[in-house]
Amino acid sequence: MALKPIIIPVASGKGGVGKSFLTANLAMSLAAMGHRTLAVDLDLGGANLHGFLGLPNRYPGIGDFLKAKRGELADLRVPTPFENLEFLPGDGKTPFMANISYTQKRKLIPRLRRLPAEYILLDLGAGTTFNTLDFFNLSPLGILVTVPEHHAVMNMLAFLKNFLLRVIERSVGRNHAIRNMLRDAMKQPLEDQTSSISQLVAVISKEDPEAGKKITAACRRYRPRMVFNEGEHPDDLNFSAQITQSLRQILSLEADYFGFVFFDSAVRKAVRSQTPFLPNFPQSPAALAIGRIAERIVKYWQTPIPDSAALLMDRVRKDFAPTSKSRKKKQVSTGRSGGLR
Ligand SMILES: Nc1ncnc2c1ncn2[C@@H]1O[C@H](COP(=O)(O)OP(=O)(O)OP(=O)(O)O)[C@@H](O)[C@H]1O
Ligand SMILES: [Mg+2]
Repeated sequence: MALKPIIIPVASGKGGVGKSFLTANLAMSLAAMGHRTLAVDLDLGGANLHGFLGLPNRYPGIGDFLKAKRGELADLRVPTPFENLEFLPGDGKTPFMANISYTQKRKLIPRLRRLPAEYILLDLGAGTTFNTLDFFNLSPLGILVTVPEHHAVMNMLAFLKNFLLRVIERSVGRNHAIRNMLRDAMKQPLEDQTSSISQLVAVISKEDPEAGKKITAACRRYRPRMVFNEGEHPDDLNFSAQITQSLRQILSLEADYFGFVFFDSAVRKAVRSQTPFLPNFPQSPAALAIGRIAERIVKYWQTPIPDSAALLMDRVRKDFAPTSKSRKKKQVSTGRSGGLR
């Protein structure tokens, strides 16, 4: 019997932080390491993963599958020029599929789980629509991408808050009083959040002890992996202690610091020339950082990484030193101040 695939959803609170870029390049990296990999475009309504893989947008995809009465999702996989890597298009020839129905989602999710591959990477849309939250729930160990800026980090935490509230909502069945309470909590910005997830669970447990137990067990399963993209300097990771504290205190959640990718002008060059980044700029700072994330996926995906913030900081400092020296030598000039290109 074939082994169950490892599903890696890639999400973010804020848009435009590099989800599609990272999904495509992590998929290429895992495939180049010899792993049978599938990159899936689940940003229905804004599908553009094909571009980062250097593929045209002319194949039917998930949108067409959801509209069709027959056919199998797996048959829509498209070969790529890269050994071990296949692609499953999103909107395909059926655009405007952002608001898929509950029935369509029930048709899609079990089939996504059964796709034939060792690693399945899911490029999700930005934000916290229920569909995105439910796709993120395809694994308890998804990747969250953020740029290392206050606003984007707050959006990442808000994504996780709404994700947990959605998980809780799905565990409480038809209890309307609890559901209304959760919907209200979803509307509150993180800064105005009057109660933490654990306080909320305590209130629910009082009303329905069985539901309380179920929720606590469900929430314990999650351990997101954070990737910081477009970083400029190791100091960008200085707020990791604050992030860890917010995750613990407000969300009762542990997360791993899984990667840091430098802002790299080579990425823009690849995007402009519509060529895939990794094979064309394999020695650039962003490519090396993506290779490291792929290695971490293979080695540590199923296990927590103790002290991951300190480990990542150490790695980023080492990577920054030689690159900044060579940068001085070459006198590279760029449009943004400071940091690495
Ligand atoms: N490390 C990087 N260095 C330089 N530019 C980058 C880097 N990562 C991403 N970019 C640029 O940022 C742009 C946005 O990236 P991308 O489309 O992957 O974001 P996204 O999170 O998928 O956006 P959306 O929320 O719209 O789906 C890309 O076109 C790319 O040029
Ligand atoms: Mg995208």
